[in-house]
Amino acid sequence: MTWRAAVLTLFPTMFPGPLGDSLAGRAREAGIWSLDTHDLRDHAPDRHRRVDDTPFGGGAGMVMRPDVVDRAIEAVADDRPLIYLTPRGERLSQQLVADLAAGPGVIVLCGRYEGIDQRVIEARGLREISVGDYILSGGEPAALVLLDACIRLLPGVMGEPASAGEESFSAGLLEYPHYTRPAEWQGRPVPDILLSGHHQAVAAWRIAEAERITRERRPDLWAAYQVRRDGVAVATAAAAP
Ligand SMILES: C[S@@+](CC[C@H](N)C(=O)[O-])C[C@H]1O[C@@H](n2cnc3c(N)ncnc32)[C@H](O)[C@@H]1O
Repeated sequence: MTWRAAVLTLFPTMFPGPLGDSLAGRAREAGIWSLDTHDLRDHAPDRHRRVDDTPFGGGAGMVMRPDVVDRAIEAVADDRPLIYLTPRGERLSQQLVADLAAGPGVIVLCGRYEGIDQRVIEARGLREISVGDYILSGGEPAALVLLDACIRLLPGVMGEPASAGEESFSAGLLEYPHYTRPAEWQGRPVPDILLSGHHQAVAAWRIAEAERITRERRPDLWAAYQVRRDGVAVATAAAAP
């Protein structure tokens, strides 16, 4: 069954953008996923195609009108989750991506200006998702991030089925380092263990490296991983002064 993405945007020419090439582009041609891009201006109330207005209460910037956004949603709404990309939303994670990829698809609303009127967020029960703690000029790059992350998890998109399971975040750890030929480059040898041919030893080394990198770089992930691996007591003990 095709995973269906719909994007509601003021800039439809930004799509499929990078999703038209490589893995995602080939998967779309193969019918694994589909993309419908809808221009929010088609739902504007006047011939000037205006979709925004000044904020009640004053202040800088413009706000996208709820009636325009609502009509655009009405035209595409079905059983797919309705997502509004916003820095205020829950942070996009690999788990959330996997959940969305396992569903029928997504309807993604891209904001511009200061964002959209709060009432349509509430009336439509939009799920608010952020791609990180920084401000983009519009939701379109965030939509491309979300769609890319979902598409590569769809069955048949990645050549090697095991690769998604070994990536950063899938086991709650950042990924171990990779090496390829030449075995020595600029005086830097590949770790001996990787040339040993001992699969179990290689697997153990990779886990140890993933743990080391996660411990050094992401104390938040490391603490959560320890809780899952060893139980609450270890994490609590580690956190003690
Ligand atoms: C300039 S931003 C508005 C920022 C908003 N005034 C605020 O402070 O939260 C315009 C649009 O870009 C999108 N956007 C910006 N940063 C984002 C992020 N980190 N994650 C998801 N969407 C984002 C949202 O759709 C937002 O409505």
